[in-house]
Amino acid sequence: MNNTNNIQLTKRSIEFLARKNHAMLIGGKWCASSNGATLAVHNPADESLLGSVPAATEADVDTAVGAARQAFESVAWGRMRPDQRQRLLLRLADLVEEHAKTLAEIESLDNGKSVVIAEHVDVALVASYFRYMAGWATKIEGSTLDVSIPFAPQNQFVGYTRKEPIGVVGAIVAWNFPLLLAAWKLGPALATGCTVVLKPAEQTPLSALYLGQLIQEAGFPDGVVNVVTGDGPSVGAPLTRHPGVNKLTFTGSTDVGKLIGKAAMDNMTRITLELGGKSPVIVLEDCDPAVAAAGAAQAIYFNQGQVCCAGSRLYVHKKNYERVVADLAAHANALKIGHGLDPATQLGPLVSREQMDRVCSYIDIGRQQGAEVVAGGARAGSLGYFVQPTVLAKVDQKARVVQEEIFGPVVVAMPYDDLDEVAALANDSPFGLGASIWSNDLARVHRLIPKIKSGTVWVNCHNMLDPALPFGGYKQSGFGKEMGRAALDAYLEQKSVLMMV
Ligand code: NAI
Ligand code: MG
Repeated sequence: MNNTNNIQLTKRSIEFLARKNHAMLIGGKWCASSNGATLAVHNPADESLLGSVPAATEADVDTAVGAARQAFESVAWGRMRPDQRQRLLLRLADLVEEHAKTLAEIESLDNGKSVVIAEHVDVALVASYFRYMAGWATKIEGSTLDVSIPFAPQNQFVGYTRKEPIGVVGAIVAWNFPLLLAAWKLGPALATGCTVVLKPAEQTPLSALYLGQLIQEAGFPDGVVNVVTGDGPSVGAPLTRHPGVNKLTFTGSTDVGKLIGKAAMDNMTRITLELGGKSPVIVLEDCDPAVAAAGAAQAIYFNQGQVCCAGSRLYVHKKNYERVVADLAAHANALKIGHGLDPATQLGPLVSREQMDRVCSYIDIGRQQGAEVVAGGARAGSLGYFVQPTVLAKVDQKARVVQEEIFGPVVVAMPYDDLDEVAALANDSPFGLGASIWSNDLARVHRLIPKIKSGTVWVNCHNMLDPALPFGGYKQSGFGKEMGRAALDAYLEQKSVLMMV
């Protein structure tokens, strides 16, 4: 494993991290928790303490929702012209780019991910998403309708619809892409004129706090974005129950998503849920085994496998199964494991000890249920939360490692015979977030795509996301879409207007 002694952080990162005890953002003010409690923040690569953030209380959540409500009703934000909202989002995108290295370093230290990936994937996508959503701020449209009310034939009417911002948004996000997930919520919320209470994950709160500073610098009015730090039960749950919240948007586990869905229904709060996955990588008969193995490695090991749409189930046509699995194991064994700040690192640590233990226990469950470990299979090293990139072969479709989300660098590989069989195997899952098909046989690819029950199907690639392309799950992978025009509608109410003239 490498070390990072010679890596120089940006001046801005050094200054930010030197604060040690960070504050949270409520109503434009940086504050501590109302009872002074804090939560430790760790670097998962070496288990060192990075500092602390406020452990917010239910009272703090209430204050933040109040601040967001006040901002929503204010003239400064509520009556702001759409082109001014667009300008603010564009300015925020510019600031994100200007601070890209710092954001990437903070993300890498807090989450463990590669600083190179953080800069060129996470932060780059955040800036491009804010720009994409900035464009929509001036393009929110209703329709005009010719009505034919049968019982009032003698009258004339003008009918139209208008789209209005939902109001206060409660956004709760996971730790795997802390900044990007926050941006997926903030982009459409701000473009439509909503206000937000954002709760980052307790494992990775720092980049959201840094983004809070940039949001202030961009010139958003106080209270439009509030960042409240703390854990799920004490901060997330009160936010989901709060009657002053008009919409909840969540990225995280399916179990917590179900709790949020139930809490939301008590107040009829609108919801978008982006949840877990067990996405299949389907290698057709014609695919070059070397291409398939490289693709499968990228699909599962990107971000240490902590990706909701990670390609965690590999189905290879039996003709090439042995070859692809052997090549994939070679890819896994060649990955350079290390500290995220080392630019040479290809696989960083998992986010926490809890997640490392969870992933290792799944590997053991796989073994117990008959899987053959052809690469990895254990923790890597003894300091930091590293897990070896792992390939489990010859696994039974009903095994827990095939059916349950592991959320780590572990792929299960299974052979199949024909197209209908692989479609059935791919769909034999409670999840339906993503899938990839690897083939140049256009006819087969097009026959397979409609059969796959998932929100995204990639062909000859995996984990590729674009601001314009809606993303979201079928089945237990979620509810509603993020990105694209579809994401906007989730932050808008539609009002019908009928005028007798
Ligand atoms: P989690 O779903 O508990 O955490 C995600 C967010 O929800 C965090 O901000 C957390 O504080 C918040 N939260 C937790 N309980 C809550 C509650 N009762 N009410 C409101 N908010 C609450 O995920 P966790 O425990 O960190 O990871 C467990 C497993 O979940 C992972 O191993 C993985 O399988 C899955 N997961 C999936 C993700 C995805 O993107 N699909 C992301 C993160 C986790
Ligand atoms: Mg949890």
